[in-house]
Amino acid sequence: MCGIVGYIGFRSAREVLLKSLKRLEYRGYDSAGVAIVNDGLKVEKKKGFIENLKVNFDGTLGIGHTRWATHGVPSDRNAHPFVDCHGNIAVVHNGIIENFMELREELISKGHVFTSETDSEVVAHLIEEYYDGSLKDAFFKAVSRLKGSFAIAAIHRGERKIMAVKNESPLVIGIGDHENFIASDIPAFLEYTNRVIVLRDGEVCEVSDDYVRVYDMEGREIRKEVQRIEWTVEDAEKGGYEHFMLKEIFEQPRAVDDTLRSLLARTSDHWGDFQRIAIVACGTSYHAGLTAKYVIEELLHIPVEVYYASEYRYRANVDDSYLAIFITQSGETADTIGAARRAKAHGHRTLAITNVVGSSITNYVDHVLYTNAGPEIGVAATKTFTSQLMALYYFAITSAERMGRISHGRYEELMRSLHRVSYWIEATLNLEDRIAEEARRVAESGNMFYIARWLNYPIALEGALKMKEISYIHAEGYPAGELKHGPLALIDDGMPVVALVPEDRLYEKMLSNIKEVSARNAYVIALSSREDVEKYVDTLLRMPKVDPLFTPFTNVVALQLLAYHTARVLGREIDKPKNLAKSVTVE
Ligand code: F6R
Repeated sequence: MCGIVGYIGFRSAREVLLKSLKRLEYRGYDSAGVAIVNDGLKVEKKKGFIENLKVNFDGTLGIGHTRWATHGVPSDRNAHPFVDCHGNIAVVHNGIIENFMELREELISKGHVFTSETDSEVVAHLIEEYYDGSLKDAFFKAVSRLKGSFAIAAIHRGERKIMAVKNESPLVIGIGDHENFIASDIPAFLEYTNRVIVLRDGEVCEVSDDYVRVYDMEGREIRKEVQRIEWTVEDAEKGGYEHFMLKEIFEQPRAVDDTLRSLLARTSDHWGDFQRIAIVACGTSYHAGLTAKYVIEELLHIPVEVYYASEYRYRANVDDSYLAIFITQSGETADTIGAARRAKAHGHRTLAITNVVGSSITNYVDHVLYTNAGPEIGVAATKTFTSQLMALYYFAITSAERMGRISHGRYEELMRSLHRVSYWIEATLNLEDRIAEEARRVAESGNMFYIARWLNYPIALEGALKMKEISYIHAEGYPAGELKHGPLALIDDGMPVVALVPEDRLYEKMLSNIKEVSARNAYVIALSSREDVEKYVDTLLRMPKVDPLFTPFTNVVALQLLAYHTARVLGREIDKPKNLAKSVTVE
């Protein structure tokens, strides 16, 4: 998983490529490189952040790459772009070439010399092998030999064009005047143009200064729609906040409102009635799915099963048909896409919830619901999570009404609550200073628990995930009633336990569970709208009072802030946690 960019036009390619790569750094950041045509072909690539890359040449045509290692350790040698044996052709690649070993052996037997351990390098040598005066022809021939997932861009020192292909990894084209761009994601070139062509799997493009042509794999030209993107570069930048993550936490009232507005503007939802649901996702999106299970079961009284996409893909097909919902903010997560393909192949109806218009997942499902959170740059998902919850609650409430599972009065009451979510989140954001104080205490610990029940149990999991991934503190989420079956043995003097105590039907039970951990000298931080909780805990974060079914929205925002401020106290790389990348396009 990586980010790729390309530029052809009249500007400084060095400047455009480096700026564009910076905006794709969320896709990986263990090495970076560029190749620019300038009296020959020049390449600079280096291990480490894009800032480490010093490029002392320029031109008006080039390609670039920011890497997240899959085959081959992060190093200068394994960084992209790769060149052929004679330094005529340069290539960048995002994805995995599954048959690279056999191609590599074939090319070595023909005399090609490889300089890296990557799967990507074979592409440069394959194009070289087929090159006979036309980059376009050689590119088509090379790409037809590849198996796997890839977005690839290639240039040749003697031709003024970029050739690129998309298959199961994202690729978009930015259309300018006498200049054009390619990239893994739109924010890369949004500063220069908002006119975009989104490529689909199996499409190849030929990009010159003045034209963009898109072909299928057989070389037949395809007509593509040019879309206008409404977000601004500002939307994709920090806007005065210290980190993207904090900016994105504070954007949540707007993100959930924009999502609700776009959902309400839909004229009809076509997925019909259903008697069972399977929800499939990874990471934070999985936690949104798990929360939705409780909400859907509460409102629709039908069974909902929730799966990690990486597990769902390989289970036996034992169920009758169901509606399968795939949640993925990026729309590019390989496990989730694989799961969607499997569900479709088994004849289940499929619905995707994603934040990225035209992302890969939309090619593999029957229906799509878009969240409208805007681009999320911080690696830790925040505003896309609450926007996913918004879409899932909307789905549950509208389906319950349509299928006659709730009265019209209850429907109206729930819709009113949906409209209030942004105010409740605002009220939670006002607790930031109080939460930051608490974070100083948490930052001193090496381990912690998050406990909750019912529909806040997934929020405990999500709070713990946020803490782990950006602060590197070991944190586990548990159903509060489960601690006594084992994990209680881990409670030590002063160990922080974050307890979610909404005023719902399990309030009393939560208090009993809190007493169990307090009796073992844990340091209990409670999130509750009830003042009297204070007497049972070490510290109370007084949450706004909201409809109990909607407490996941407010609790998760408080937990995002707790993780953020803890990581900040510890001086972590909050927007770019170690070992992680925003979009996981490998299995
Ligand atoms: C955690 C996080 C990841 C993603 C997961 C799925 O903060 O961001 O756990 O939620 O990689 O990503 P999407 O939703 O793009 O499929």
